[in-house]
Amino acid sequence: MAGAGEHWQYMQSWRILPVARMGETITAWLHFVAMMSLLAALTAEHLLFKPPLDQRAARRLIRIDLIYGLSALVVLITGILRVLYFGMGAPFYLSNPVFHAKFGAFLVLVLLSVYPTLQFLGWRRALRLGQPPDVPISRARTIVFAIRLELSLVLLLPLLAVLTARGYGL
Ligand code: HEM
Repeated sequence: MAGAGEHWQYMQSWRILPVARMGETITAWLHFVAMMSLLAALTAEHLLFKPPLDQRAARRLIRIDLIYGLSALVVLITGILRVLYFGMGAPFYLSNPVFHAKFGAFLVLVLLSVYPTLQFLGWRRALRLGQPPDVPISRARTIVFAIRLELSLVLLLPLLAVLTARGYGL
């Protein structure tokens, strides 16, 4: 537990280095916003993906999946920035197996999203011809399974994140 003196010094450091702190604060904020938008997009995909799909639903799913991809990219970029510049220093994270598990879970999340994304993008030809997409039941099941696994990983990731931030695993 920090004493009053240490706390005062910490508060002073915020006054002395406001610009550096601002970078750290904005990066941390963007990391949170991006992970929330990732979860929102994934939940929306899960709710909307109910074949047979009409053209409107198919177009929406393609757009939502794009938001999901962009969110994952922002999570990754802000995460890397926090590792390199705004966190406890790269050795703190790179030597921690809990952080490795977090990064590994994120990579699995990204890999799992490849199949649904390729399927959604494959619908564009039918949509250009003014037709709804044809989604065979076996493919639909695989897409739902992938999205559910991704949702489970999104629950696990914040746990690994808070454990890492508190030095578990070191
Ligand atoms: C969907 C994926 C991710 C989720 C849900 C997530 C979640 C979080 C959360 C909740 C925190 C705040 C922890 C706390 O202060 O208690 C955090 C911090 C952090 N995240 Fe992520 N994260 C994700 C991906 C990543 C990735 C891919 C990286 C690295 C490339 C990363 C690097 C970091 C770092 C360095 C911190 C700061 C830890 C500290 O305060 O020492 N994150 N993340």
